[in-house]
Amino acid sequence: MAFAKISQTAYYVPEQIVTNDDLSKIMDTSDEWISSRTGIKERRISRNQETSELATEVAKQLLAKSGSQPEELDFIIVATISPDSMMPTTAARVQANIGATNAFAYDLTAACSGFIFSLSTAEKLIKSGAYQKGIVIGAEVLSKTLDWSDRRTAVLFGDGAGGVLLETSEKEHFLAESLNTDGSRSDSLRSGKSGLNSPYSESSEDAPFMTMDGRAIFDFAIRDVASSIKELLETSGISGDDLDYTLLHQANIRILDKMAKKIGIERDKFLANMMSYGNTSAASVPILLAESVENGIIRLDGSQTVLLSGFGGGLTWGSLIVKI
Ligand code: ACO
Repeated sequence: MAFAKISQTAYYVPEQIVTNDDLSKIMDTSDEWISSRTGIKERRISRNQETSELATEVAKQLLAKSGSQPEELDFIIVATISPDSMMPTTAARVQANIGATNAFAYDLTAACSGFIFSLSTAEKLIKSGAYQKGIVIGAEVLSKTLDWSDRRTAVLFGDGAGGVLLETSEKEHFLAESLNTDGSRSDSLRSGKSGLNSPYSESSEDAPFMTMDGRAIFDFAIRDVASSIKELLETSGISGDDLDYTLLHQANIRILDKMAKKIGIERDKFLANMMSYGNTSAASVPILLAESVENGIIRLDGSQTVLLSGFGGGLTWGSLIVKI
């Protein structure tokens, strides 16, 4: 029986830093409002790089760090809600950019849960025995999806990419998972609507920009995501004490605080970096993971147990407990 393990991590963010004070020069907001409500101090905003270029930088790092050749890759999955285009996919562009000629590649769209859903899928690909090595990346240039005249959303998001290399292992590393969707509550978070447009259709007035009912999403995270994590811990027999770290989607520091209390996991075990990058949707968990490996907090030696969790548009939410 084949198992999968995360053997390398990497992240890449655009150079340009935009602070809360920078934003207050172009819209009616303040560092005080943004940091007290969200914990975010600054974010990276792409000047000229597309989503596939950020993802390609991650893929190149993963290959270099592991000493792998691009031809060894069996698959590339990119989780994104801000692709360069619907076709070709961002993953197909990455495949071409790095010369992974033997890899099939596709995008997976599940908003801020995209990386978690993709990693779960990739693990099953390897577990099937049919594939041995693949890359899973979360990559976003959300700055192009935002309505920059809407201070309620524009201040929250940032651009970036993170990813992992998955390989076969003799031991089980993916201990438990819970993946969920509730499409009936999709109205509270929307982006990228493409309306009907043909000689036979009525025209649509929908705006393509990100819209969010912040309060509804906040409550959803505290209620549904927290209960689902609690249930996952109960059903898997893994307790909060067994976890070394929890890497939650980086949307808001207050969500982390409340979630820690609700689930009953020590707050110190929740890693956070939204202060530096804002909410990068599908990229947030892999950027946090890769940065934690870079800082030596996570060792990638199979000795730590971490919970990875994403939640957002769809509505979608999902968690994986991984021996890493
Ligand atoms: N600067 C200054 N004032 C602002 C800003 C801003 N950027 N944005 C809103 N305000 C004002 C509002 O206009 C409102 O003013 P009013 O009372 O005079 O009308 C006031 O601040 C309060 O607005 P609320 O929306 O009620 O603020 P709230 O305290 O709920 O915080 C926030 C908003 C930060 C968005 C919060 O609801 C939140 O974090 N929600 C969760 C978002 C989230 O987790 N998203 C992640 C999942 S989605 C994804 O990742 C794609």
